[in-house]
Amino acid sequence: MVSRVIPVDPFELVIFGATGDLARRKILPGLYRRFLAGQIPPEARIIGAARADLAPDAFREQVAEAVTEFVPHTLRDPKVLADFLKHLDYIAIDAKGEGGWAQLKSTLRPGVIQVFYFSVAPGLFGDLAERLNSLGIAGPDARIVVEKPFGRDLASARALNATLARHFEERQIYRIDHYLGKETVQNLMAVRFANILFEPLWKSEYVDHVQITVAETVGVEGRGTYYDTSGAMRDMVQNHLMQLLCLIAMEPPYHFDPNAVRDEKLKVIRALDPVHPDDIVRGQYLPGGGEGGYTDHAENPASRTESYVALRAHISNWRWKGTPFYLRTGKRLRARASEIAITFKEPPHSIFDDETGWRENVLVIRLQPDEGMHLMVMIKEPGPGGMRLTQVPLDMSFADALGAEHAETPDAYERLIMDVIRGNQTLFMRGDEVEAAWAWTDPIIQGCEARGDRPQAYDPGSSGPEDALMLMHRDGRRWREIR
Ligand code: BG6
Repeated sequence: MVSRVIPVDPFELVIFGATGDLARRKILPGLYRRFLAGQIPPEARIIGAARADLAPDAFREQVAEAVTEFVPHTLRDPKVLADFLKHLDYIAIDAKGEGGWAQLKSTLRPGVIQVFYFSVAPGLFGDLAERLNSLGIAGPDARIVVEKPFGRDLASARALNATLARHFEERQIYRIDHYLGKETVQNLMAVRFANILFEPLWKSEYVDHVQITVAETVGVEGRGTYYDTSGAMRDMVQNHLMQLLCLIAMEPPYHFDPNAVRDEKLKVIRALDPVHPDDIVRGQYLPGGGEGGYTDHAENPASRTESYVALRAHISNWRWKGTPFYLRTGKRLRARASEIAITFKEPPHSIFDDETGWRENVLVIRLQPDEGMHLMVMIKEPGPGGMRLTQVPLDMSFADALGAEHAETPDAYERLIMDVIRGNQTLFMRGDEVEAAWAWTDPIIQGCEARGDRPQAYDPGSSGPEDALMLMHRDGRRWREIR
C-alpha cells in the first residue's frame, strides 16, 4: 500500500516567531518533511520573521540545524535539505514597531496563497493581525494560523476572538489543536463513520462508560513558568482531551466538511454538564528518580497548580445520558500512553454458569504510541474444561496492518500546515467551539480555586494520585492500566 501525496498549490508562508522553539522543533522540520515527500511546489516560499536581526543565510543555517536535530536520520538527505533551504527567506520584523513591515509587503507576490503563522506569545496576536490588515499586507483570502493557548478563560478567549475578527473573517482563521492533526485522532472519525459495526452500539444503552487517558512521562521542566499559570486543566483538558471527547461523542456530521464537523462537536461541548466538585481529582508530582518535583520547577514552592487531573463528565443528550466519560491526564506518569477505551455493557443475561468476572467488550483505540485498535471479546477457553470463558483481544496494530510505507506518517503539524494551505478548516477549532470549551472549563477551575484545594501528591512513575482511583472505584469501575 503506497501513501498518496497530494501536492498543494504554490504558497507563501510567513512564520512569525520563526526563531522560537515551536518553529524549530515542529514547524520547520515538518515543512522539510513535506518537501521531501514532494508536497511543496517549486514556487513555494517560506519566510521566517522574528525580532532577531538575522541575515537570511544565518536563518537558513538555523533551520538546517533544526532539521538535523528534529528529523529522524533516515529522512535526512543533504541534497534535499539544500534544495529546501532555497525556499527559505528571513525578514527581521518588530511586531509592535515599524521595522520590517514594508520589506514584507514588497516581497509577497500577489495571486499566491498567503499564510501567516502566529507562532508567538498570544499577547502579540492582535498586533500582528492589525499590522497585516492595516498595512494592506494580507490579501482577502490570506489565512492566519494561531497557536494555543487560545485564551486562559472564557473572557480572554472572547477578547482574542473579537480582536482577530476585527481584521480577519472566521474562514481565514486556523486555530491549532495539534491533537486534531494526529493520524489516529482522525481515525476516530473513520472508525465511527466509515463502519456500520460500531455506530448502532454507540450510545448509553450499550456503552457503560468511556475512558480517555493522555498520560505523559515528561514533567514540566523548562516550561515551569508557563505551566504554572496553566495547569493540566488549561494545558490539556480544555483543548486536547475535549477534542477527543467530542470526536467520540458527536453525532455523525452530514458530510466530512469543516462546518458540519465543527457544528457537531460544538453540540457535544454545549451538552456537557457542569462537573461536580466530588468528580474531580487534581494531583501534583513529587520529586523522584533523580528529578525534582512539580514545585521545584514551578518557581512558587507553594504552587497549587495541578500537573494531573482526573474527572468524571456527563453529556446530557439523548445519546449519552447516563454514560460517564472519565478523563485523565498527567505528567511524570508511569508511561507515555494516550488511549480511548469504550467499555460496553454486559449482555443482559448470561446463559453460562461460568464465573469469569469481567465480561464487558472493550474497544480500545490507542492514539500513541503503538497506534492501533483492540476489541476485547469473550471466547471459550480452549480445552476440555467445559464451557469456561476468557477474554481475548481482537488486536490490530496500524503499523502491522498498513505496512512499512505508513510507518513514517506525517507529524500532526505537517498535516495541519498542509491543510491550511489547502484551505481546509475541518481539523481546526472554530471560535465558538473554543469559547464553549472555556465556558465548561472555567467553573471547574474557579471551583477548585475557590475551595483552595491542594492537589494530591503522587509519585513520579505512578498512575497518579490515589483519589483518582477512587473516582472510578466508587462507581464500581476501574481505570485501565497505564502502560
Ligand atoms: C501540549 C502541551 O499542547 O501538548 C504539553 O502544552 C503536552 O504540556 C503536549 O506535553 C502533549 O502533546 P503530545 O503530542 O506529545 O501528546
